[in-house]
Amino acid sequence: MAQYIITPQNPISGTVSISGSKNAALPILAAGLLSRGESVFTNVPSVSDVHSMCHLLSSMGATCTPLCENQVTVSLSSDVRRKTAPLELVGKLRASFLILGPLLARWGKVRLPLPGGCQIGARPIDLHLKGFSAMGAKIRQGHGYVEAVCDRLKGCNIYLDFPSVGATENLMLAACLADGTTVIENAAAEPEIIDLSRCLTAMGAEISGAGSDTVRIVGKKELSPCTHSIIPDRIETGTFLTLAAASHGDLTLTNVHPAHSKPVLAKLEEMGFLVEMGEDMLHIAPCERFRAVDIKTLPHPGFPTDMQAQFMALLSVADGTGLVVETVFENRFMQVSELLRMGAKIKIDGRTAVIDGSRRLSGARVRATDLRAGAALVIAAVAAQGETVIDDIEHLERGYADFEKKLQSIGASVRKTE
Ligand code: EPZ
Repeated sequence: MAQYIITPQNPISGTVSISGSKNAALPILAAGLLSRGESVFTNVPSVSDVHSMCHLLSSMGATCTPLCENQVTVSLSSDVRRKTAPLELVGKLRASFLILGPLLARWGKVRLPLPGGCQIGARPIDLHLKGFSAMGAKIRQGHGYVEAVCDRLKGCNIYLDFPSVGATENLMLAACLADGTTVIENAAAEPEIIDLSRCLTAMGAEISGAGSDTVRIVGKKELSPCTHSIIPDRIETGTFLTLAAASHGDLTLTNVHPAHSKPVLAKLEEMGFLVEMGEDMLHIAPCERFRAVDIKTLPHPGFPTDMQAQFMALLSVADGTGLVVETVFENRFMQVSELLRMGAKIKIDGRTAVIDGSRRLSGARVRATDLRAGAALVIAAVAAQGETVIDDIEHLERGYADFEKKLQSIGASVRKTE
């Protein structure tokens, strides 16, 4: 497994351009299955999760051009179909489950391996399946697979027990071709849901309420292809802001959508950081001393769970004691044991972590356990004294495009070894 070797030398400074959002791109690539014609998606991030999704779409019979110059095209002609997705592809990409909605709507029958859980939690799919059943699908599970059958999905009212991002997206995708109107209540309201809605609308879908807790979709007989540009990645934005913050850096971020980062910007301001906002730019100024704060992760517009680990690294070098409460996933403190190896002072009690800021962390050999925990270790390493070696950085390459190059371009001394 590959490693990053990070030896902090110069302060973080300069400008970094943020890539398209992985978590917007994955459901939007799945939306390409909804039409026979070829949809063109741009500003698609070159990350391994996106490559896996393209591979999966092709394996199901779709025409999916490999990612080139941050562009992918997807189409699914009506005469190809493969009813079962390959296990090895679905196993490594949880978001692969997002093809169930579009294929069930197009084909009336689809069989997928159950998406694995992962380090951060069991990641069940009960809310997805409950929604599809409500729309008339017959669901069968067995031997690690789930099969959904339905001649034509029927629009209906669905109330999600939890505002699940994936369940909201999967049901929106299916409802576009259902007979009648579907109303999803207690829906997720993340910016990625709005981006998916914009893409589907460009394909001829009739959707309202995306970004609120109630999304209404009027089903159509068929959709047409579209051209859609993916929104900037708000989590990559937050990650680079936090990296600069922890290492007293002076950093400008371009190609961003500041409004999508409000919860993170509010916390940075509360800690004493000065972040200047432009139309598609953010600039964070160096700040010698910054205060610890309390973080509680919540569905959007609350503080994003995908920024929790990165903020824990920042709190580890803040003045005072900070609290982190993780309410979205049941096991998302995997970064703690690795941060402790670097001298962080963190105590966990259930879903709450207490972080005693210490002035400096020390470099150590640590391991990326998952995507955002890995990002937290990069932040800690850049703020630490001495060399850090991070193992298993493949986790990072799932969600951060050209990460090593971007880090080097803003002064971080990072070297990747195979
Ligand atoms: C999406 O995952 C993101 N992934 C995650 O980002 C993100 O952390 C998460 O939303 C929350 O914002 C993508 O968009 C590809 P959920 P998803 O369904 O859709 C429970 C990253 O680092 N739940 O909103 O899987 C679930 O167990 C990744 O980029 C059910 O109980 O998240 C969890 O506790 C990590 N039943 C909570 O809801 C279900 O049927 C939130 O899950 C579905 C979910």
